[in-house]
Amino acid sequence: MAALTPLVLRQYSPTIYKPDGTAHTTKEELTPLAKHIRDTILATGPISIASYMQLALTSPIGGYYTRGQVFGREGDFVTSPEISQMFGEIMAVWYAMHWETMGRPAKTSFVELGPGRGTLMNDIMRASKRFKAFYASIQGIHFIEKSPELRRLQHDKLGCDWNDTTATSDKNSPGIPASGTSKSHNGLRISWYDLLEEIAVEQDCVPLVMAHEFFDALPIYKFEKSEGGKWSEILVDVAESTSIPTDPVSSSAKPSTSHFKYVRARGVTSNAALIMRDQRFGALFDKGDHVEISPESARIMIQLAEWISSKSGMGLIIDYGVDWTQGNTFRGIKNHRFSDPLSSPGSMDLTADVDFSYLRYAANGKARCFGPIEQGEFLHSMGIQARLQQLLHSTSDAKVQKDLVDCYKRLTDVHSMGRVYKVLAVLPAETAMTPVPFASAAAKEGS
Ligand SMILES: C[S@@+](CC[C@H](N)C(=O)[O-])C[C@H]1O[C@@H](n2cnc3c(N)ncnc32)[C@H](O)[C@@H]1O
Repeated sequence: MAALTPLVLRQYSPTIYKPDGTAHTTKEELTPLAKHIRDTILATGPISIASYMQLALTSPIGGYYTRGQVFGREGDFVTSPEISQMFGEIMAVWYAMHWETMGRPAKTSFVELGPGRGTLMNDIMRASKRFKAFYASIQGIHFIEKSPELRRLQHDKLGCDWNDTTATSDKNSPGIPASGTSKSHNGLRISWYDLLEEIAVEQDCVPLVMAHEFFDALPIYKFEKSEGGKWSEILVDVAESTSIPTDPVSSSAKPSTSHFKYVRARGVTSNAALIMRDQRFGALFDKGDHVEISPESARIMIQLAEWISSKSGMGLIIDYGVDWTQGNTFRGIKNHRFSDPLSSPGSMDLTADVDFSYLRYAANGKARCFGPIEQGEFLHSMGIQARLQQLLHSTSDAKVQKDLVDCYKRLTDVHSMGRVYKVLAVLPAETAMTPVPFASAAAKEGS
């Protein structure tokens, strides 16, 4: 399978990362996190891309998501809910509509994985108020969030009061919310967790799950098909000298000031043996092809699927990606541009396209998946144009009106976020219905 060109994502007018061809002579700053990663590699040998990604994104000593202020025009990237309130409002309509179809369960609670600044849930809750009976069913909100700084932002965004907040017992970092009460949303209890398995919801409480731009941040492993059909793992090693190219694995090797470089593992790593044993990857690829696999995504998807089925819940997974396995989408995003992901760990977002076929495969037999369909199709079918019209009529300010139209286009246009972002719905295994607006994608369900 040919390597695919990475798509331009999470940014409006981005510039694709290109090496400048300059042979730099000094290494970039060795931050505490970079030093920690370097020392780990020197002590134990090259590490998987997954380990590198995990450290660079969530390490308490300077991981990217521990910083918090990474979203928006001033940050490194912009996400759909940060572009327009219409995004969250449309999601609220989807949940309210399916709550009706599922027989109006008396108790529900929202569960969001990777809530960022809390904007999406805040918009969903605000828009849900228009559906009075649905709103009355909501018992609480559960956030899966590892970043202390983002937890604080979510806490404030949802209108929680610090006087009424329970903090985690982390003595090194006081003031990380564990639970609070939302003043903006009916005094609802909001709880934070590191992991999905920590959530305790009442047996008769139906979970309404949202994962927006969560799976793309989960660690990936990368493998290359070599002679005799064996898979070699691509690892991250220390680059001692600037004359060593950052990426000796690719044909366009280039000089770099990074402290790290890719290498092929010498023997078969346990990751290669375990992950690539799956027959799913056998026949599809030729010698030299790369694949990126996220077992952590599969693990979480299995949990989600079982949980949604056992509690008669429903979920939406929205992310950029495709419905097949790719090999070269791992990238850094900094200041709205693509960046070398091995440069300055902790200073940029690291991400890879989501393989929706792998998520569906993980959920197979445990829940029913519908889609993925394109974000533009989802938003249009759920009425984003009608909502846009309402908002346009609510103001006579031409600048505000132009802004609204620009945001609508950005979310839905096939050349912007309308096509690269996809929506996957997850319903209980025994459900007989096809959720709106997935009718055209119903045939794709399962693996
Ligand atoms: C790209 S942001 C998306 C934020 C938000 N959903 C939005 O669209 O604006 C990724 C989110 O996932 C969280 N996250 C990343 N890896 C995580 C992990 N392993 N466990 C829990 N949360 C994680 C980040 O802290 C952040 O809140």
